[in-house]
This record gives sequence, C-alpha cells and structure tokens, in this order.
Amino acid sequence: KKSEAWSARFNEPVSDLVKRYTASVFFDKRLAEVDIQGSLAHAEMLAHQNIISAEDHTEIRRGMMQIQDEIAAGTFEWLLDLEDVHLNIEKRLTELVGDAGKRLHTGRSRNDQVATDIRLYLRGEIDNIVGLLRELRLALLDLAEQHADTILPGFTHLQVAQPITFGHHMLAYVEMFGRDAERMLDARKRVNRLPLGAAALAGTTFAIDRERVAKTLGFEDVCHNSLDAVSDRDFAIEFCAAAALVMTHVSRMSEELVLWMSPRVGFIDIADRFCTGSSIMPQKKNPDVPELARGKTGRVNGHLIALLTLMKGQPLAYNKDNQEDKEPLFDTVDTVTDTLRIFADMARGITVKPEAMRAAALQGYATATDLADYLVKKGLPFRDAHEAVAHAVRVCVDRNCDLSDLTLEEMRAFSTLIEQDIFDVLTLEGSVAARDHVGGTAPQQVRKQIARVRALLG
Ligand code: ARG
Repeated sequence: KKSEAWSARFNEPVSDLVKRYTASVFFDKRLAEVDIQGSLAHAEMLAHQNIISAEDHTEIRRGMMQIQDEIAAGTFEWLLDLEDVHLNIEKRLTELVGDAGKRLHTGRSRNDQVATDIRLYLRGEIDNIVGLLRELRLALLDLAEQHADTILPGFTHLQVAQPITFGHHMLAYVEMFGRDAERMLDARKRVNRLPLGAAALAGTTFAIDRERVAKTLGFEDVCHNSLDAVSDRDFAIEFCAAAALVMTHVSRMSEELVLWMSPRVGFIDIADRFCTGSSIMPQKKNPDVPELARGKTGRVNGHLIALLTLMKGQPLAYNKDNQEDKEPLFDTVDTVTDTLRIFADMARGITVKPEAMRAAALQGYATATDLADYLVKKGLPFRDAHEAVAHAVRVCVDRNCDLSDLTLEEMRAFSTLIEQDIFDVLTLEGSVAARDHVGGTAPQQVRKQIARVRALLG
C-alpha cells in the first residue's frame, strides 16, 4: 500500500529501517499546535487570494479543529509511515475533509512549513524562559534584601579577598540573569520572521500574500530570501548560545551552592525538597539539584555545538540534515526551562547562616586592603602602603592572629601614620560600608540596586 505523498515516483517501498531512520514524528509531534496554527494562516491567505475557495477554507478550518481536539484527547494516531508531524496532520485532514485537505499544501513545501513551525514554537518558549528568568531574579532580589547587611568573605582564587555582603553576592547573579533575558529577547527578534512563501526553496508561482500570513501569525517581518528562509537555522543556534549562557550562570551559582553547603564551609542550607540522601550513608544530605544543574550545563553546551556542526557543511538550500535540529533544540528548551523553574523555587529555599559567613570573613585578613587604603588616605603612596600592610600580615600569620588583634603600638611599628581610628577601618562592617559607590558592596548600595532592578522588573 502506497501511503507516502511522493510514492508514485518510486518502484519499491522504503525499507522499515530507513523509515524509522528518516522519521521524525516521534519528536516533532511537539510542533503539532504551531503546525496547525501555521496551516490555518496559510489557508486563510490562500482563500483571501482566491487560490482556494471559501468553502475549502471553511472545511480546512473544521478539519483542523477536530484534529486539535483529537490531539488534546490523545486519540490522534501518529504514524511512523507518515514520517513527520506535517504529513501526519495533512493526511488526517484529508481523511476528514477530502479534497479541501489536499489543497492546503498549495504554494507551500514542508521546507518553509517546518522552518515556520520551529520559529513559532521557539518564540513561545523564549517568552516563557524570559518570564522564568524574571521569577528567578525576583527570588534572588528577595534573598539579597534579607541579607543586604550579612557579611561573608569575598573570594578571588578561592582565597579570602575582601569582605562583601551576601546581598551583593546575590546581585551579581541578578545581573547575569538580567543579561541572559536581554540576550533571549534579542535573539527573539531574529526568530520572529516568516519563512512561509519560500516554498521548497525558490518561492511559488501562486499569487500569495506573505505579509498577510506574517501579520496573522504575529511575525515582525517576512524572510526576504527564499533560499535563506528554508535552510538557515541560525536563529536556533543563537537561542542555544543564549541558553548555554543561562546554564553557565546557573552552573557557576550551583558550584557555589554546593561549596557553601559543604559542612566544611557551612554558609548555607538548602531546603530538603531540593536534596537527596544516600542509600548507604545515613547522615548524608546532598545538594543534588545544583549538582545536576551543573551537569546539565554540559548537555546544553553540547547541543549548541551540535547545531553549529549540523549547519556548517550544508550547501544551500534545504537538506534533510536540518531535521536533526529538533532534538537538540527541544532538549535545550526543556533543560533550561526546568532548571530555571526549579532554581526560582530553590532560591527561596536557601537558609543563610550569617555566623558561619562572618567567622570565615574574620579569617584570612580580609580587611588588609582597607588598612592599605587608610594609609594612602593619610598620604602614603599606595605601593608603600601595600608593603607596610604585607609586613603586618606576615607578623599576624606568625602569631596566628587577626590584624585587629594587634595593639595600636604594634601597628605603629609598620607605619607611624596609624592612629586610634584604624580600629573602625579594620571591622568587617566598616570595610563593606566604605565601598559606597554604584556597584560597590556597601549595604546602602545593595539596597539601591535592589530597588533599581525591582523597578525594571515592574
Ligand atoms: N521533517 C522535516 C524536517 O524536520 C520536514 C521537512 C522535510 N522536507 C523535505 N524536503 N524532506 O526538517
């Protein structure tokens, strides 16, 4: 039985293995909704241009309505024999409404159809991801606000560097996820253009109205070259690059959460619902969610490379290679979406332990730079101040004490510029409060940034 649309040209049926190899229906059926949306817009235009009759258009609408219901009810029968989502739906439409269904594909090819579907699908997913990034930022802003004054050591090289506030640390991620949202919205502009009308590759002989279809589907513009319209997937690659950066930021944060939750550090706890135990060690509570997110970042990075590699050798115009764009794209969407959803929730399940953070900030001479800055303000050149403080730290390391444990007399041995007011400078609170400018860690600046971002998020 010949079921394929092109089978008259063939002398023998496609082998079963090849059918399975070439079929995409089991993953591209997720495009069903947008495929129908695209077909309805196309049919409406065909009718408006008198390419098909108004009756055919009505029949197509009726058939598509029923197909939508069948898919929603789970009764739609997806057939491997019909290769992909497009042919499955078109075949069912023809079963339901006869010749009108057979006229739907006038002036269209699966090549411009699938490119349109992916763009419609991706546009919706981008909007969802941008919304989730917003949720995550709102959660991080709340955490930042609760801990605008909480001090922890800031690190460079994972060595104690200078005291910072936990709120400031959270705001660093708020900035990263803010840029991620910008990138997503920027990519969206190039996603939001209509390929339909390009047909297989060269355009069509019918008097179509592409602007009309673009308008119906909410596209900002049409693709202006038919070869480009059906063959490039740069918009999907751009999205995957933006997604890889989202995951990279999530992964950096995850690394810190794992570290902070280690009993050796003990800066935070993560609510039980995001952790799991061990099947052998009864005492364990492991931060599985951040660890998995860190791991899944590799998979999203891989999808980006997969798509770049998929594209690089393809001559114009459409090649079947492009069918391989879907699984990496879908998995990227799923991974990023789930990760952001969980992280927005988990951010609210983080318990901060200010005493542990404070204790850590008191070790490692976090205020050494403050002492050097103090000497500079008293007139010493910075390089000389740096050297004087290095000597002081050296003595403290030998004695196993903090800079603030030295007496005024002991300190004056390093510089006679040091006076009684030094003790305010050496406190953790004094240190963070002194970094009081845009982008600095002072609690007052942290609060200003929180207010700024909240206003942006509306
Ligand atoms: N399933 C195909 C894809 O995902 C649809 C386009 C097929 N076009 C073709 N000429 N074989 O790309």
